Amino acid sequence: MLKVINVVGARPNFMKVAPIVEAMKRREREFTPLVVHTGQHYDASMSDAFFNDLDLPQPDVYLDVGSASHGAQTAAVMERFEPVVLKHQPDWVLVVGDVNSTLACALVCVKLGVKVAHVEAGLRSRDRTMPEEINRLLTDQIADLLFTPSADANENLLAEGIPETRIRLVGNVMIDSLYKHLPRAQESDNIRQDLQLNEYAVLTLHRPSNVDDPTTLKRILEAIAEIGKRIPVVFPVHPRTKKMILELPAIELLANAAGLWFIPPLGYLDFLGLYSRARLVLTDSGGIQEETSVLGIPCLTLRENTERPITVTMGTNKVVGTDPQKIVAAALAALDQPEKPNVSIPLWDGRAAERIVAALV
Ligand code: UD1
Repeated sequence: MLKVINVVGARPNFMKVAPIVEAMKRREREFTPLVVHTGQHYDASMSDAFFNDLDLPQPDVYLDVGSASHGAQTAAVMERFEPVVLKHQPDWVLVVGDVNSTLACALVCVKLGVKVAHVEAGLRSRDRTMPEEINRLLTDQIADLLFTPSADANENLLAEGIPETRIRLVGNVMIDSLYKHLPRAQESDNIRQDLQLNEYAVLTLHRPSNVDDPTTLKRILEAIAEIGKRIPVVFPVHPRTKKMILELPAIELLANAAGLWFIPPLGYLDFLGLYSRARLVLTDSGGIQEETSVLGIPCLTLRENTERPITVTMGTNKVVGTDPQKIVAAALAALDQPEKPNVSIPLWDGRAAERIVAALV
């Protein structure tokens, strides 16, 4: 029997861990899965909603670290996670993605000599000003087993000197959640009906490089308001972004822009229901580049780079940066394309969790 601690911390972790825990529960003679939530994200809309929507079991342990500076948050996770590992003595600890909790928990494990596996390993933006890039690089250096979503990730790891024996190409576990929940999400369709919109675009924005500087944020929102003249843009606002928007000068002008719909952050099903029927998605998220690709929905990434180049070469993603004119031009061009492309990315097939769990045995 293998005891595995599955770590979640922030919003993009929940849909990656849910299918893995479910796959372990299907093999209950071989696995005892535990869920540890660091509490990096804690608002109901950023955390609880995802447990409910994804059928993720309530955490066995909640570390309640909350928000803080990077150093303080990472340290708090380490300090509170270490006694949990010592108490439970797991055979494996599984960390996912690239948030501060991912690195903090991996670091605790290697120091204790407990085996740690990293899901979504090998992605690189090559932009070391992104906190996530540092988390990815360091977690991959220290983890015992690296589960990659696509072949480019294997190449990155090999180029960094990581031996092939530590790497397993398993596909994209986020897409397991997407395929499982898409029918239910589209059935409920709450948000689209509430807003009474048929044709619309969706925007998400939360990267510090886009939202923490008022000038950059304002320029991006003005570009979006311009796109809003052609098609309504629905914008579920992340708490970090909300704080910054409320401080912008003349925010009422933007708030009143006809085509711009500010709404609170959504749970997994409501958001999937919304973007899966969108004409276009504009985002600075990593995961949404992947999810829109699988669904054949045009995606414009409002960043200068992506750690997920396969969404550009094989999916629907276009990295457009943050220049307002380029954003508007790319959006209008995408809206002029009537055809929804058919996308198929190897191993993004809804069965990545099965492969991960099999590899742990
Ligand atoms: C974090 C991750 C990022 C991920 C994002 C998804 C790191 C370094 N960053 O960024 O990779 O894409 O989550 O959302 O791990 N806040 C709330 N309620 C919450 C959580 C946060 O109000 O439940 C507010 C706090 O004011 C906090 C701010 O949002 O200071 C930022 O939260 P934080 O977890 O530090 O970073 P994110 O920007 O969410």
